[in-house]
Amino acid sequence: MQATALAHPNIAFIKYWGNRDPELRLPANGSLSMNLAGLMTRTRVQFDPTLAHDQIWLNGQFLEGRARDRVVQFLDLIRAWAGVALAARVESENNFPAGAGLASSAAAFAALALATTAALGLHLDEPTLSRLARRGSGSAARSVPGGFVEWQPGRGDADSYAFSIAPPEHWPLIDCVAVIEATHKAVGSSEGHRLAATSPLQSARVVDTPRRLRLARQAILRRDFEALAEVAEQDSMMMHAVMMTSHPPLIYWQGTSVDLMRAVTAWRREGVAAFYTLDAGPNVHVICLPQDAETVKARLKAFSGVKEVIVAGVGGAARLIETEA
Ligand code: PMV
Repeated sequence: MQATALAHPNIAFIKYWGNRDPELRLPANGSLSMNLAGLMTRTRVQFDPTLAHDQIWLNGQFLEGRARDRVVQFLDLIRAWAGVALAARVESENNFPAGAGLASSAAAFAALALATTAALGLHLDEPTLSRLARRGSGSAARSVPGGFVEWQPGRGDADSYAFSIAPPEHWPLIDCVAVIEATHKAVGSSEGHRLAATSPLQSARVVDTPRRLRLARQAILRRDFEALAEVAEQDSMMMHAVMMTSHPPLIYWQGTSVDLMRAVTAWRREGVAAFYTLDAGPNVHVICLPQDAETVKARLKAFSGVKEVIVAGVGGAARLIETEA
């Protein structure tokens, strides 16, 4: 009754922001991302009849409070599905620095969904696993399939899942993450999703999403870097415009984030294949082609206000790994 799974975080080119149904985490709009190789969460789940309560360890620390509640709620969902009442021991580790300011919930819930269902002897197909991971954290739906991944909003729970549009080897893009702030975000994404609908710009962003998705999908399939750069930067700006015009407003950027966005577009005009995208935080993900990765990395490292640069290629699907019995 135990299993261990690995999953990668992902970076979205077309962002998920806002839920139609917060309880089921049905998104306001479709989204598209790439998984990040090298960065990963490894999670072992063991159901144990001798345990009275779930025990959850994250990076060697015993979890308590709200972070624990979120994991227990997710385990409860799977227990209800499977008709099991046993408590579990969950041990999860991230190989990327805990305070790097990288969203870890996508990889965390993708790995947890896979390890928990496998430990119960359930072998779910990819769409079902993606739907399940979605319930823990929306973006986790996209960390289940490999490579370049689209999450269709769906009409309901049954068809709101993610699927791969191209494998990792299709296009060796590199994400150079410029870490500006390593501490936890002031307003987490669950609260942010709730605020999205308070912005008068959200409905325009949502209505326009099929267009941006089409452009991004086509750009990826044709390996058209300039086209992907244009639509991904616009999409990031549209999400942040919604954030900044929510009530209360959410301003995730720091001065350095803005300086970097300007610099990256200027580098692209000079011929460096690079574009930026930002999630619910100040760190700037600079996506580039492999031939320009060293230049981008060196420029980011030398950039005033950048604390660290984390480099990742395109990652595969969530998967089970062998462990000692
Ligand atoms: O999965 P969540 O609820 O943490 O939402 C992620 C939201 C963004 O990272 C800002 C955008 C995205 O699509 O990943």
